[in-house]
Amino acid sequence: MEDIPQSLKQRLHRYGQEHVLAGWDSLSDSERRALLAQLEAIDFDLLHQLFTQQGQTFHLPDPERITPLPRVTLDPSDLHLRRRGEEALRRGEVAVLIVAGGQGSRLGFVLPKGMFPIGPVSQKTLFQVHAEKVLALRRRYGAAIPLLIMTSPATDDTTRAFFADQRFFGLPPSDVFFFCQGTMPALDIATGRLLLEKPGRIFTSPDGHGGTLAALRASGLLHRLRDDGIRHVFYFQVDNPLVRVADPLFLGHHLAQRAEVSSKVVAKNGPTDTLGNFLLVDGRCTIIEYSDLPETLARQTDAQGRLRLWAGNPAIHIFDLDFLERMSQEAANLPFHVARKKVPCLDASGQWMEPTTENALKFERFIFDVLPRAERWTAVETTRATEFVPLKRETGPESPPAVQQALSNLFGGWLKEAGVAVPRRPDGDVAVPVEISPLFALDADELRAKLPRWLTVEGALYLE
Ligand code: UD1
Repeated sequence: MEDIPQSLKQRLHRYGQEHVLAGWDSLSDSERRALLAQLEAIDFDLLHQLFTQQGQTFHLPDPERITPLPRVTLDPSDLHLRRRGEEALRRGEVAVLIVAGGQGSRLGFVLPKGMFPIGPVSQKTLFQVHAEKVLALRRRYGAAIPLLIMTSPATDDTTRAFFADQRFFGLPPSDVFFFCQGTMPALDIATGRLLLEKPGRIFTSPDGHGGTLAALRASGLLHRLRDDGIRHVFYFQVDNPLVRVADPLFLGHHLAQRAEVSSKVVAKNGPTDTLGNFLLVDGRCTIIEYSDLPETLARQTDAQGRLRLWAGNPAIHIFDLDFLERMSQEAANLPFHVARKKVPCLDASGQWMEPTTENALKFERFIFDVLPRAERWTAVETTRATEFVPLKRETGPESPPAVQQALSNLFGGWLKEAGVAVPRRPDGDVAVPVEISPLFALDADELRAKLPRWLTVEGALYLE
């Protein structure tokens, strides 16, 4: 029979968390062991601090320290930069990292978001789209490109099983690495007590994509990448099927600037656009999440009447491996951001309850809080239409139909560049579902070179 160590009892008493032991006597041996393991892993001191600082863990810098991000765009015809990036790919110095640990609750999809069918014609999943881009790059540059996928306890098993079942979409299984991020307990808003999802089981959720650093380190992957000659890690979020994975021009710019981090940015659609804000704080590249930026600052305009803080975060970065290693040693210093959420749990009398108002504080770390620590950085502007339309919600501009339309529009644009007309609606949207497999062409240039002469587009088109 498992017993409760005296030291743990004392700790729970000190932090007012003894309620988690309610029902101990009716737990099975394995439930008891699991609860003890959960409790041993909790940093009660940290949780206590986070609770007492409620909502004040993020400190907005004084507005006079904040200046706009300079506008920089890359010239697509700059062959010198492009070649530089291509050479790094050819030398096998680039790995690709997808963060896919989120729970995608806004989308109302119960499986990991990467398993959502998104191909406008093929219905292939987000994971397949990303994996095929990596496969196409490997073929094009004749080099290994390790694919790293960050999962969370909620998505790990299903994600691994899906890749295995789909035979890794043609990638060598030995070059696909899954690593699981950590979790954080949530706290009751009013009392600071841990929440129970059932007797003997503490409610936890993924610790934010800032958890990438600690999880990479714990997995041993940083060493592995170094031993394999990787020097740059191309990072993006699983929800964006338009991403230009390991874009050689961007990579070339990153190298030419000797940057530790490079990022893409897109112009915000308006002051309250729900993107992170790219800006400078004391001249250092910084992202302040939309929810943390006061509206008065977000609404400021410049002399021409344009948004002063104009740059939004599509979450596309290149991190140098050296920088990631340095940051992973300091991972514990990244701040926690607090969100107020509705979390169903057991109430004080042990009854299941579904809250109607926010009852819990959740804590997450954000990977982009490392940006200001980079000594050398670059940020270049791109457009949503060519690189960024994320899948977030069931309805609206970030819903499945909207993302599929964005994909059809992108591919329709490539076809137009290759001299093939595609039917369009009066608003300019491509009128039929169009899809080009990454294994057929990764970009407009490749498409032009491969396009069958006979091609006319009248109905749905899928080039495979
Ligand atoms: C995020 C960014 C925002 C950016 C926007 C672009 C944050 C806090 N904000 O917003 O600045 O403009 O994307 O689409 O990230 N994830 C994990 N583990 C976690 C939490 C998230 O892997 O613990 C992954 C998700 O799987 C997803 C990505 O991180 O791929 C973003 O998470 P999401 O909750 O969708 O972020 P947003 O609030 O939409």
